Amino acid sequence: MPIVLPDGPGLAAATDALRAGRLVVVPTETVYGLAADARDGCAVARIYEAKGRPRFNPLIAHVADLAAARQLVVFDGAAYQLAEAFWPGPLTLVLPRLADCPVSQLAGAGLPTLAVRVPDHPVALELLRAFGAPLVAPSANVSGRLSPTRAEHVAGHLADLVLDGGPCRVGVESTIVQVVAGRIRVLRPGGVPVEALRGWPIDEVAAGPAAMPNAPGQLASHYAPDLPLRMGVRRPRHDEALVAFGDRQPAGAARTINLSPTGDLAEAAANLFDVLHRLDDPRLAGIAVVPIPRHGLGAAINDRLRRAAHRP
Ligand code: TXA
Ligand code: MG
Repeated sequence: MPIVLPDGPGLAAATDALRAGRLVVVPTETVYGLAADARDGCAVARIYEAKGRPRFNPLIAHVADLAAARQLVVFDGAAYQLAEAFWPGPLTLVLPRLADCPVSQLAGAGLPTLAVRVPDHPVALELLRAFGAPLVAPSANVSGRLSPTRAEHVAGHLADLVLDGGPCRVGVESTIVQVVAGRIRVLRPGGVPVEALRGWPIDEVAAGPAAMPNAPGQLASHYAPDLPLRMGVRRPRHDEALVAFGDRQPAGAARTINLSPTGDLAEAAANLFDVLHRLDDPRLAGIAVVPIPRHGLGAAINDRLRRAAHRP
């Protein structure tokens, strides 16, 4: 995977690769992003594949300026003022998609909203202008690994080309806010400190890294059963339903379903929602889940369970 300087030939190679549906690692002020043509569903799918993301987390569409963002999403007054105040910069706005928004549905995970930002980095901006269309870009790391803040941090197999823009200035991802009816909700703490949003009509503030599992794209309530759910259970109560896994099947619950008696995480992932549905019986007091390994698809399973356990 060549690492090139972001000079004329380097930028030309990058735009050519993007036009061909390939992935390019781009420096931003926050972290390096793994960029693809936001309009090209196949290119977007390659991002998920390269990162080894077990689920289709919605991506941020990067654009060169506010005018380009207005081709994608609807700005109300507050959103417009935030963009004017913080762009270019590490603030991502989650706003309603325009009906004719050209960004692929896969990039937005099928949501009616889209996350957009204007990065504050000369190389990213120059590439966006040369490419002339939005680029989606998650951090350029394999899922679960540290975000890269230097070109040499980027794993060799991720992309077809890396533009070397030196070390990233901010080093943490952008702050993500959703703007609804003029009110601001902080979904992910990041490069714009929440203190900088003082004076804006903020409804809710994520409480730092610990709150991040409930952050955007995570759609906590979507996965929540009606019954309360607790994780990491070794001794279920007699009035609970138990989700077992492999040989982790303690006795004592009212009902038990094993996600995978053989301890196969792929099978467990495939069964997860169905099992939760089946155990979500109002005559029971709750759902208890044994500890599920965290490796491989176990990460996605635990992620879903955390959200199912989280009661907003
Ligand atoms: O600083 C950054 O934001 C970096 C650089 C490369 O720009 N990008 C980045 O992307 O952090 P990523 O994919 O790691 O984080 C994007 C997050 C998703 O995980 C999701 O939580 C949230 O943005 N998101 C995207 N679209 C959303 C939407 N429509 N509604 C709510 N959250 C959304
Ligand atoms: Mg990331």
